[in-house]
Amino acid sequence: MTVDLRSDTVTRPGAAMRQAMMAAELGDDGFRDDPTQLALEAEIAAMLGKEAALFVPSGVMANQIAIRLQTQPGDEVLCHAASHILDHEYSGAAAISGVMLRPLDSVDGTLPLADVRHHLAMAAAGRSAPVGLICLENTHNDRGGVVLPAGHAAAVAALARPAGVAMHLDGARLFNAAVASGADPAELAAPFDTLSVCMSKGLGAPVGSLLVGTHEHCARGVRIRRYLGGLMRQTGLLAAAARYGLAHHIPRLAEDHRRAAILGAALAAIAHVEVVPPQTNLVRFSLAAAHPLRLSGESAGLVALLAAAGVRITGDGEHFRAVMHLDVDDADLQVATAILSAALNPALNPTLNPALDSGSTPVLTPPRSAG
Ligand SMILES: Cc1ncc(COP(=O)(O)O)c(C=O)c1O
Repeated sequence: MTVDLRSDTVTRPGAAMRQAMMAAELGDDGFRDDPTQLALEAEIAAMLGKEAALFVPSGVMANQIAIRLQTQPGDEVLCHAASHILDHEYSGAAAISGVMLRPLDSVDGTLPLADVRHHLAMAAAGRSAPVGLICLENTHNDRGGVVLPAGHAAAVAALARPAGVAMHLDGARLFNAAVASGADPAELAAPFDTLSVCMSKGLGAPVGSLLVGTHEHCARGVRIRRYLGGLMRQTGLLAAAARYGLAHHIPRLAEDHRRAAILGAALAAIAHVEVVPPQTNLVRFSLAAAHPLRLSGESAGLVALLAAAGVRITGDGEHFRAVMHLDVDDADLQVATAILSAALNPALNPTLNPALDSGSTPVLTPPRSAG
């Protein structure tokens, strides 16, 4: 058995979700008459306190449409230095919208207000390009699934509004942020003109995200989605899965957060393992330079070693991510915690280094607590 903690996108629809997909009423997205998709769009718009929503194939497409809608070629877009829009959407904003992403950095995923103020003032004075849009991300993936501090988005919006600059939220994991903070999703969405939200992550649907905003954003978004190749047909099959996730899988995100906290605490107890204290479902950890696997140059093989031992995570030899999701239960957590702890704490697993050295398939001592 392998415990797959690579991402919350790896979940497969369960029997009840598949049943909902089979029972979905279908139409054709190209004619905007798929009743299940239209119901999903209305539901999301209402949940987030916005006028309208548009179903799209991916979170990247929702973000890119939002940028295209709210900027002119040559504009700057202020975003976090480790945002998904900058780091993981290739050069989409440049290629599709002709804009430059201006990275602003912080450890907690916020945009430093002094920097926002500075760039808006430079643009207003004609000393730098116009700022077309400001993007935030909640939860912030790269910074460890952290929830943006309460009031941060409103503080950024208070600078953006007088300057006539629009606000977009990459809310791929907005429901994780809502559950972790106890805030209403509409409250988290309020400072923004547009949002993207993903159905295919914590909510467990196989495919799909929504662009959320005004009727005008969505009507224009339909055109952009078309030329990006994102118009679909019998979308009700996918929208039904998303509606099932919305109806059944939001409160249970707290389970993912609880499990991430348990794994995070176990890893934090190991010498030279630095863990971002998990606030939601992501566990990000790094091996300090003094960690034995880094000293011996073996940390590059850690992801493969763990996979062979039965737990899949992602990482580059120094920074790693393990993600809790719908298909991970307490027994999986116990197995994953034991395997990770053994691999990262060579004192617990003296066979680890010889296995790596010899290049043979590494066999970790079976975790005693795994049952
Ligand atoms: C913060 C964030 N935004 C956007 C996306 C993009 O979602 P998708 O993979 O559906 O394009 C992801 C995916 O992991 C994400 O983590």
